[in-house]
Amino acid sequence: MKFKNFDKRGYPTVTAKTGYGEWAETYESTVPDLLDLKIFDSLKSVNWSESQKCLDLACGTGRIGQFLQNEGLQNIDGLDLTPEMLALARTKNIYKKLILGSVEETNLPANEYDLITMSLVDEHLNNLTKIYHEAARLSQKEATFVVVGIHPFFLMNGMPTHYDDKDGNPKAIDTHIHLPSHHFTSATSSGWKLIEFVEGVIDEDWVQLKPKWEKHRDCPINFGYVWKT
Ligand SMILES: C[S@@+](CC[C@H](N)C(=O)[O-])C[C@H]1O[C@@H](n2cnc3c(N)ncnc32)[C@H](O)[C@@H]1O
Repeated sequence: MKFKNFDKRGYPTVTAKTGYGEWAETYESTVPDLLDLKIFDSLKSVNWSESQKCLDLACGTGRIGQFLQNEGLQNIDGLDLTPEMLALARTKNIYKKLILGSVEETNLPANEYDLITMSLVDEHLNNLTKIYHEAARLSQKEATFVVVGIHPFFLMNGMPTHYDDKDGNPKAIDTHIHLPSHHFTSATSSGWKLIEFVEGVIDEDWVQLKPKWEKHRDCPINFGYVWKT
């Protein structure tokens, strides 16, 4: 679904590559761990440290890689579209390989990974089928795919993923809205089975962090899916 039907901000909109290229330097100081790491932390069906070979799709600056390493993973590759984000990930020395590419068509060899993570990127993808299909192709026989993102109900409040450029002007990054049924249909048609589904809402922790979001209290803000082959 097109975000523009819900847009209440009207910010100039750029592609993901341009946007994250401009945002990279300040990205980590503006993305709260509550948005995704809290969801990762809450998942009960994943035994992170069991993974022998993990791929972090849309790894960005390496926040998820850091979480995975803290959970005991040692063999993690990362892939991202934006060179500026990858350059920052590289400084963390977490990933074995860092690959410049698209999550929809990675050009990586098939059947390599027992764990794939993908956080905060589905809203930039027009079509979910490609990503679930590509993740299935990359997966070993019994693999886990963890997908964490911004909840579509929150995006429907009219605020796209956005950042301030170097002149302090807000810019939106191309945003799409995917309902849970879109995830379910795309994933199951690629052979994934749903093992766990969690949703987070704007709670007291969020209101403490962003007092203006009191008006959004109890609105869903994020989600996490755990899929298995
Ligand atoms: C909000 S950041 C999330 C980064 C990281 N996963 C995290 O949680 O901090 C979104 C990332 O997705 C990347 N991205 C957007 N579209 C992509 C695509 N089609 N293929 C690969 N990476 C993409 C961007 O370059 C950016 O680094």
